[in-house]
Amino acid sequence: MTYDFSTIIDRTDKDAIAVDMIPVEGATVQEGFSKLPMWVADMNFATVPTIQESIIQRVNHPTFGYFLPREEYFDSIISWQDRRNGVKGLTPDAIGYENGVLGCVASAIQAFSAPGESILLHSPTYIGFTHVLEDNGRKSVLSELVRDNDGIWRMDYEDMDKKLKENHIHFAIFCSPHNPTGRVWEKEEIKKAMEVYKKNDCIVISDEIWSDIIRPGYTHIPTQSVSEDAKNRTIAVYAPSKTFNLAGLIGSYHIIYNNYLKDRVKKQSALSHYNSMNVLSMYALIGAYKEEGHVWVDELCDVIAKNVDYACDFISKNFDGITVSKPQGTYMLYLDCDKWCKKTGKSLDELLKAGIRVGVIWQDGRPFNYPNTIRMNLALPYSLLVEAMNRLKDYVF
Ligand SMILES: Cc1ncc(COP(=O)(O)O)c(C=O)c1O
Repeated sequence: MTYDFSTIIDRTDKDAIAVDMIPVEGATVQEGFSKLPMWVADMNFATVPTIQESIIQRVNHPTFGYFLPREEYFDSIISWQDRRNGVKGLTPDAIGYENGVLGCVASAIQAFSAPGESILLHSPTYIGFTHVLEDNGRKSVLSELVRDNDGIWRMDYEDMDKKLKENHIHFAIFCSPHNPTGRVWEKEEIKKAMEVYKKNDCIVISDEIWSDIIRPGYTHIPTQSVSEDAKNRTIAVYAPSKTFNLAGLIGSYHIIYNNYLKDRVKKQSALSHYNSMNVLSMYALIGAYKEEGHVWVDELCDVIAKNVDYACDFISKNFDGITVSKPQGTYMLYLDCDKWCKKTGKSLDELLKAGIRVGVIWQDGRPFNYPNTIRMNLALPYSLLVEAMNRLKDYVF
């Protein structure tokens, strides 16, 4: 390993809700137990040093006036997308800054749906989508992902089609890879989904923020790559924030090829005058998308795969009544605790609090639209993951 993913970093007093907040109401960490942050989607690893170097180099110059994104910003994205996702022919005019992926979701739903209209999403659902839709007065219509005989989450195309028709829906949010199930959709699956959207005249925002965090052996397929129609129907959103732990710096971007979609999204986001890039976040992206960034992400993916294997194995051996589908991407584990709740007669709230009591700060999975679930973040040093699993075994299960 070139980079260090095993040092335990103390994030106390370093502006991190991962350790400053307990996400379950009424839950507390008992004295004597350290906090193991395993909830909000950021990582407990030091990011690739080229990011800090790039920012520091810029900070050393003492002016921070109005600016335009540098050519290097666009070049960095174009080359990153080419090398990681096989995207050819991407040009700067298809790329646009977004003040967060969710900011782009908000602009897009305002551009392509009316207040009160329904939007199609899959469930389980990333909670951020639910909030954006609620905040903007749109209704969520959920098409449930279903687990096949091997426990792999699949889309139900018939159900998607039915719900699009019944609810006169013309805008959908597609999450690829999928949070919180960790599915990395196969090309055929994306193709079929895009056919359903096409049949129903549905514009799609494809949230691909997790596209770099892929288990070795799996491949991220950009939604826009599956057909010419998909290329023109889709607003794709990416960011270095999930990949490199830069959420606090803000700085996502869209790729939109179709001029009609692009102009509508850009106009909508311009209305608030809030969608402006910060010069330091531009340099963070440039530092991230360097050669060193590629090496760092490859190593990160190996580290996460090892953590995922360990956690899934440990859970199946030691936590009777908890089932989990092994994520193919992301660093999130979505625990189905239904059998455990039924077997023990205890509630999910009790389970959540019992874990937090011994310092395992995990997250209620129910707001992601699936009953009796817990979401667990595995982006932490292996030694801390082992510690968390042992505490859960000894004190909770
Ligand atoms: C699927 C998904 N989309 C978007 C976001 C948030 O993105 P941003 O901070 O760029 O709005 C997250 C964060 O966890 C996420 O998991």
